[in-house]
Amino acid sequence: MVRSAILGTGSYLPKKRVSNKELEEIVDTSDEWIKTRTGIEARHIISDGETNSVLAQKAAEMAIEMAGISPEDLDLVIAATLTPDMPMPSVACLVQDAIGAKNAGAFDLYATCSGFLYGLTVADGLIRADISKKILVIGSETLSRRVNWKDRTTCVLFGDGAGAVVLGASSENNRGIMSACLHSDGSLGGLLTIRGLGTRHDLKKTLENEWQYIEMNGREVFKHATRALEAVSIEAIEAAGWADASMIDLFIPHQANIRIIEHMRERLGISRERVFINIDKYGNTSAASIPIALDEANRKGRLFPGARVLMSAFGGGFTWASVAMRW
Ligand code: COA
Repeated sequence: MVRSAILGTGSYLPKKRVSNKELEEIVDTSDEWIKTRTGIEARHIISDGETNSVLAQKAAEMAIEMAGISPEDLDLVIAATLTPDMPMPSVACLVQDAIGAKNAGAFDLYATCSGFLYGLTVADGLIRADISKKILVIGSETLSRRVNWKDRTTCVLFGDGAGAVVLGASSENNRGIMSACLHSDGSLGGLLTIRGLGTRHDLKKTLENEWQYIEMNGREVFKHATRALEAVSIEAIEAAGWADASMIDLFIPHQANIRIIEHMRERLGISRERVFINIDKYGNTSAASIPIALDEANRKGRLFPGARVLMSAFGGGFTWASVAMRW
């Protein structure tokens, strides 16, 4: 049976780091409030010249190098993002050109913070159906351009960054993606939204109303995220044929809030040492959060052949997803 396995990982963060203390000078907040409510201590933010596709390119090059392949071996580039450089061309096409993936198709995938797991699931299906052989899946975001830096309820939460993996076929029975579960509930979309900058409202109206920025009902999102993440994680564990969460060697949750992660960990019964956390350093990097964490875990030696890995994410839309794999 052909499964798809991760052959290489990469990640890249913008150079500029903004601490909670620095945010105290911009909005009415405190290091103490941000740390205790979210677990975030700092985030990285793009500077002039850095764009979503530049971050994505750097992460992609690292993943390709680790996979030991040439960019020309790729037959598809999928970039999960909600903050592309521009509506057209896509981030995936910009990266395809920048890395010289001459034989690859390319498209962006829009599923907010769950985007990387949606991308991984699509890529897994294409590989198992023998339509593609090697796919670059990227999660890349520059949400610093979409938060209102006057709104303390959102600007402290998000950061920029990119992560990428190369996915390819594996004939080893105990390696690769074992299950993938995708969900959505569009009826709750208004609880976490960027109303403007699409085609519904004209630009003048958008700017007058400040609809170019993220708006969020934090408490409601928190409530739905905790419930959905627990359920989808259990679903993916069962679909993988694992007895329960105690079989997981490393849990890589979307890094949105340490309290959401802690809640999930307790409900699923996973010990602290088996949860990968880096929200303190980067904040919520949306679609980039899981591939960045995966790359860090990989480079730190936290993943060993055969390790059972569970990844779960939740985001605007709402969308949520979970992927279980053997490393
Ligand atoms: N600094 C200081 N005070 C702040 C603040 C900040 N950055 N942001 C909000 N506050 C204040 C609020 O104004 C409120 O004050 P009030 O009681 O005087 O009205 C108080 O803190 C509590 O606000 P509340 O929104 O109830 O806090 P909370 O405990 O729910 O934490 C979030 C807020 C956003 C951290 C939390 O709801 C959350 O993480 N939600 C999920 C968000 C998420 O994950 N989104 C992305 C999904 S991918």
